[in-house]
Amino acid sequence: MNLPDFKIARSNNKIKYEKKEYKLNPKYLNKYKGKKCYLKTYGCQMNEHDSENIKGILELLGYTFTDNMEDADLVLLNTCSIRENAHNKAFGLLGRAKHIKETKKDLKIGLCGCMAQEEIVVNTIMTKCPFVNFIIGTHNFYDLPNILEKNEIEEKQEIEVFSREGDLIESMPIDRTSKYKAYVNIIYGCDKFCTYCIVPYTRGRQRSREKEDILKEINTLIKEGYKEVTLLGQNVNAYGKDLYDNYSLAELLEDVAKTKIPRIRFMTSHPWDFNDNMIKIIAKYKNIMPSIHLPVQSGSNRILKLMGRRYTKEEYLTLFHKMKEMIPNCTISTDIIVGFPGETDSDFNETLNLVKECKYDNAYTFIYSPRVGTPAAKLSDNVTKEEKEQRLYKLNEIVNTYFKENNNKLIGKIVPVLVEGISDKKNEYYGYSDTNKLVNFIGVDVEIGSIVDVIITDAKTWSLDGKVSK
Ligand code: SAH
Ligand code: SF4
Ligand code: F3S
Repeated sequence: MNLPDFKIARSNNKIKYEKKEYKLNPKYLNKYKGKKCYLKTYGCQMNEHDSENIKGILELLGYTFTDNMEDADLVLLNTCSIRENAHNKAFGLLGRAKHIKETKKDLKIGLCGCMAQEEIVVNTIMTKCPFVNFIIGTHNFYDLPNILEKNEIEEKQEIEVFSREGDLIESMPIDRTSKYKAYVNIIYGCDKFCTYCIVPYTRGRQRSREKEDILKEINTLIKEGYKEVTLLGQNVNAYGKDLYDNYSLAELLEDVAKTKIPRIRFMTSHPWDFNDNMIKIIAKYKNIMPSIHLPVQSGSNRILKLMGRRYTKEEYLTLFHKMKEMIPNCTISTDIIVGFPGETDSDFNETLNLVKECKYDNAYTFIYSPRVGTPAAKLSDNVTKEEKEQRLYKLNEIVNTYFKENNNKLIGKIVPVLVEGISDKKNEYYGYSDTNKLVNFIGVDVEIGSIVDVIITDAKTWSLDGKVSK
């Protein structure tokens, strides 16, 4: 048994880790042939990508997948800790699984992902949820076959969670969700420790993957027919810092652009690590998409400081405008938290003013949610729930008007769209533009997975309508 410990997660000592190639012990191959798994994924792209690896591993063990929990032999929750409601959803689903297990005694229930790294979650499960068979952490989830076997032999709740990052595993089995768009990890963990955020505790310290491994993966994807890669990390702009002297995200983007994969995206960017060289490379290569996610969190310098974000509103705005100037047609999206402890009306108004200046193409807005173990959770908070809800409402009203305004500007323009599928309506296809906008469009015999020119005929708040341009 290994239990998570936030004190160890927070400690700053460097951990030596090795790069290892994934190897499945042959005794596990097809061991569970005929069994079905219900896998539920919460949270960010990182978790979605981990679930693609989890699927790959479980398939080697012989599992197939079902969308119906009642049909499953294994219920596995890949969880997220970022806000309280993510917790609640996962516990709600555990409740349903428990109910099914009352009449299906050999149902296995497991939990992985970021919640597995939280002491408070693991303690609750140990004391209140004996029906959960196992918990496995984010740093060792590839060890799933082992924990499944141990649980069979020992018939007790298994908890295997390492508080700090472990080895970097290459070539893990994978079952990707899309045949055209792929996630590629470039950096794991985060060293920023923003005061409200639990990610550095659940995902460990920053570790970059070697550039050769990243490029090899992308070249394989190209051979398999993939059209788009999204380079993933909690802070992709820190890429290389822990590994190289003179190789950063700028150089990596350039090397990926040279592979000639048609579309490259990357997320998430931290403004602090975004330098001019990176902007120049994004502007230089046509296959690096002109769409950047640049979370601001707040427009008040006082709150930004309390959040530990390491930039001021002015620095953020300078960066923002530089990107808009240097990268043709660049769209920028953001994340904003309202109701951080002690946020006043005046702080909030500064956020509204910043939003009015940036006129974002998309924004993910959240009410601050205290996470146990993070520094901000200890700050006294005199903002009422009602006030926070009102602020979120007001913010959303404003950001939404800009989404629509920006979309309106595209009416009559031709945009390239990577076709992802056919929507329910006959002859209507959908996909995303270079600037990451959802486009529903009319066409005849359009090839799924191709990139087509679409003329925009109408604009909505969250999508565009169009037809194939002849
Ligand atoms: N690494 C990314 C974001 C990861 S989490 C970055 O630094 O931008 C995604 C978003 O969730 C954050 O940008 C933030 O807006 C939000 N978030 C994180 N912790 C939160 C909390 N405790 N309460 C509310 N929102 C939070
Ligand atoms: Fe969390 Fe900040 Fe790291 Fe983003 S940069 S994952 S918000 S600590
Ligand atoms: Fe959630 Fe973990 Fe991602 S906390 S947002 S799943 S890194």
